[in-house]
Amino acid sequence: MKKEYGINNKPDLNLARKRLGRETKIIDFKIDDVYLGIGDGKTYLIKTYGCQGNLSDSGKMSGILEALGFTRVEEEIDADFILFNTCAIRENAENRIFGELGRIKKIKKQKPDLIIGICGCMMQEEATIEKIQKKCPHVDVIFGTHNIVKLPEYLSIALNNKKSLEVMSIEGDIYENVPNVRDHPYKAWVDIMYGCDEFCTYCIVPYTRGKERSRMPKDIINEVQQLADLGYKEVTLLGQNVDAYGKDLNINYTFSDLLVDLNKINIPRIRFTTSHPRDFDDTTIAAMALGGNIMPHLHLPVQSGNDEVLKRMNRKYTSGEYIEKMNKLKESVPGISITTDIIVAFPGETEEQFQDTMKLVDAIEFEGAFTFIYSPRIGTPAAKYPNPLTEDEKKQRLLTLNKKINEYTLKGNKRFEGEIVEVLVDGISKTDADMLTGYTRHNKLINFKGPKELIGQIVSVKVKRSFTWHLLGELE
Ligand code: 5AD
Ligand code: SF4
Repeated sequence: MKKEYGINNKPDLNLARKRLGRETKIIDFKIDDVYLGIGDGKTYLIKTYGCQGNLSDSGKMSGILEALGFTRVEEEIDADFILFNTCAIRENAENRIFGELGRIKKIKKQKPDLIIGICGCMMQEEATIEKIQKKCPHVDVIFGTHNIVKLPEYLSIALNNKKSLEVMSIEGDIYENVPNVRDHPYKAWVDIMYGCDEFCTYCIVPYTRGKERSRMPKDIINEVQQLADLGYKEVTLLGQNVDAYGKDLNINYTFSDLLVDLNKINIPRIRFTTSHPRDFDDTTIAAMALGGNIMPHLHLPVQSGNDEVLKRMNRKYTSGEYIEKMNKLKESVPGISITTDIIVAFPGETEEQFQDTMKLVDAIEFEGAFTFIYSPRIGTPAAKYPNPLTEDEKKQRLLTLNKKINEYTLKGNKRFEGEIVEVLVDGISKTDADMLTGYTRHNKLINFKGPKELIGQIVSVKVKRSFTWHLLGELE
């Protein structure tokens, strides 16, 4: 039997594009008493795709579900509620989700009471919603990035055998005090801001996650202090453009001020992602130079090494400016490791322009990069730009770039051979049960033999050999 909708509100990308200057509301989250206990005796599983922003949202949704009484399980077949938290950044991420939804249909046949939910960035797109409604009638709950806090209401509708679809195309608010179930016992994500106002011409994020809005400094500082008190060893500050932190608050407090304040907290490691080259400035460099718990690693997406392409991407900096800033950073934080994101085959990118990206990689010597073939996103300006390259040409550029990136990644790892490095021990290596695995201050993955009691501790390890994807060490 076809189910009715309890709520039915679709997204509108045209609205999502707007920045109306509306004041951000800070809302203290609380679960309405009527929903408490609706998950008693029931189980859930969240499958998360995409960036750390989604991982962070999934932690909060787990927190909400557990507050409702649900218990987490690891296998789909054991779950009463399965939720897919999706990513819209590239087409292949989206195709993967439709594959998953096709597969899950079989489980629903075996278990008709199973509630299937889908949320995240992909849901903010009109075309996706149409496709899901047409092709996936087995999906019960659909919601977007702005309303994860309404999960109790959507579940209560689903438990009454109705569907819900609610995607809000708004600039967004900030919810504080959302319960959070963190996956890792020693490392935590902390959102410092939400949304993005950059509107890079290839990117869907400003449409799917609303406007840039910063949490109040005291809320972030308190959260980091609480994590430190709980014994967490590492915090990663999250935002689409952390260097813009505070600009919307009008309280004369910026990202570098936040780093300086967090530098005083007794948590051993602070990382942050993602920075934007236009907003990455001398004050952030000065804060990073404080060292201590601020790790000597910067992930700074450059996207292209050609000024004309950067302009068409709306990135608002030149390759020269990027190099100048990185030279300053290298001087202020000796030995810093720099990683990046690069897009190849942006519409109209010529061979010469691609070669400029290769030259920039030589100039910076990135010690790692996430590299992508440009993927058109409906509703973004670049999706309309002509792109005459063949699929083979695009792949060839990616291969050529990856080869160079791998050379510098290896070179960056080799510089640690023979050195003693400080490692936060994450757990047992996935590839060798006899080995422990962790990350160095420079964010290098390192494996070494040691007792599992060391998990969660910071230990000294001597680097014996370096490879492209990891270091091999011995406990000191
Ligand atoms: N196509 C390919 N890569 C993209 N990214 C963002 N949008 C696209 C797109 N349409 C990449 C950028 C960004 C990273 C998170 O994903 O490099 O920094
Ligand atoms: Fe997308 Fe650009 Fe914002 Fe990053 S800064 S999320 S690439 S629009």
